Amino acid sequence: MKDLFAKIYKDKGPLGKWAEQAEGYFVFPKLEGQISNRMKFQGKDVITWSINDYLGLANHPEVRKVDADAAAEYGSAYPMGARMMSGHTAMHEKLQNELAEFVSKEAAYLLNFGYQGIMSTIDALVAKDDIIVYDVDSHACIIDGVRLHMGKRFTYKHNDIESLEKNLERATKMAETTGGGILVISEGVFGMRGEQGRLKEIVALKQKFNFRLLVDDAHGFGTLGATGAGAGEEQGVQDDIDVYFATFAKSLASTGAFIAGDKEIMDYLKYNLRSQMFAKSLQMQLTVGALKRLDMLRTMPELKQNLWKIVDALQSGLKERGFDIGTTQSCVTPVYLKGSIPEAMALVRDLRENYGIFCSIVVYPVIPKGLILLRMIPTATHTLQDVSETLDAFDAIRDRLENGTYKRMSAALIKAMGE
Ligand SMILES: Cc1ncc(COP(=O)(O)O)c(C=O)c1O
Repeated sequence: MKDLFAKIYKDKGPLGKWAEQAEGYFVFPKLEGQISNRMKFQGKDVITWSINDYLGLANHPEVRKVDADAAAEYGSAYPMGARMMSGHTAMHEKLQNELAEFVSKEAAYLLNFGYQGIMSTIDALVAKDDIIVYDVDSHACIIDGVRLHMGKRFTYKHNDIESLEKNLERATKMAETTGGGILVISEGVFGMRGEQGRLKEIVALKQKFNFRLLVDDAHGFGTLGATGAGAGEEQGVQDDIDVYFATFAKSLASTGAFIAGDKEIMDYLKYNLRSQMFAKSLQMQLTVGALKRLDMLRTMPELKQNLWKIVDALQSGLKERGFDIGTTQSCVTPVYLKGSIPEAMALVRDLRENYGIFCSIVVYPVIPKGLILLRMIPTATHTLQDVSETLDAFDAIRDRLENGTYKRMSAALIKAMGE
């Protein structure tokens, strides 16, 4: 019989196999200093374009004060236990009520982490005879939620309404035999490439098919819509989203998440979300902190305006200089370049070491072979000076990519990898 660990000794997994070349630099990098537009990486000042602190709340003095006061008053333990047992407070209820009102839903329920929370939401919403239809490019937490489902599931091509319709036809036929219903899942904003989920067209299909819609709006909440209520508000279809999900990990610059929808559905979920029923509730410090952040979101529209000033400057600057930024419709700003993985590594090293620009890099298999995706997250703390320095740096690295500098620099690695 094989040792259970034998496969681990042999194969470190799709990302793990790059650990030797990548760890500490391309993956698990250590960004130091206060969260802001400029931080330190390996002792050097860098402009940081990889932190989802969209509204610049992470290090806002008012937020820091509320967080510190709450920590002093409650410590980091209170309340102990799961919500259902001993982890429930009036403050949790208050936050839920305010979140529900903000996203125009009857009720909301807090989640201690978005990832597990949405997994459990999917798990609790479907029974064995139900069918899930979801976007093939969904975030890992949605995929893991779908994995818990004991019944049938279909993926539709990314943001492709024709493909969704075809799969809804298949799902409807199947549901007629199983006697179940259909759950459609989309993201409000797809976090890698920045396109909004085509929510308006998805909800229009409700005229033709019988389904319920769950939207993961991690990147839309706080950044899109007139009030910041997200992609549903932006597209005028918030009422047609049956279960709305957002995390505190991006615009609210914290930890925790919530779902919102009709009261009866939220009441059901409250009693059936396994990751919340059997895990410690959101700690008080985070609950009080989220109330403060939500208040700022509501009362300080300038935060979103500052964010979009930077987003517009960055995205239009890149386009004017001929960069391919794909089809983003959000703050997420991808820049697509052509090159191999070793070239991408040399390019990112150059960007960080010689130009002081820190952004995330995405390569095959997340995107097609031969493409390099530099993913940038603009925030309200960035300045127009940051944008212009970054644009100049991008011009320079594109030249060096095109004239073969990175190919020469990474020749040994290219040979070793057979690229
Ligand atoms: C689209 C999406 N959904 C869900 C999550 C998970 O949220 P959390 O970080 O609160 O676990 C993330 C990442 O934060 C995300 O990007």
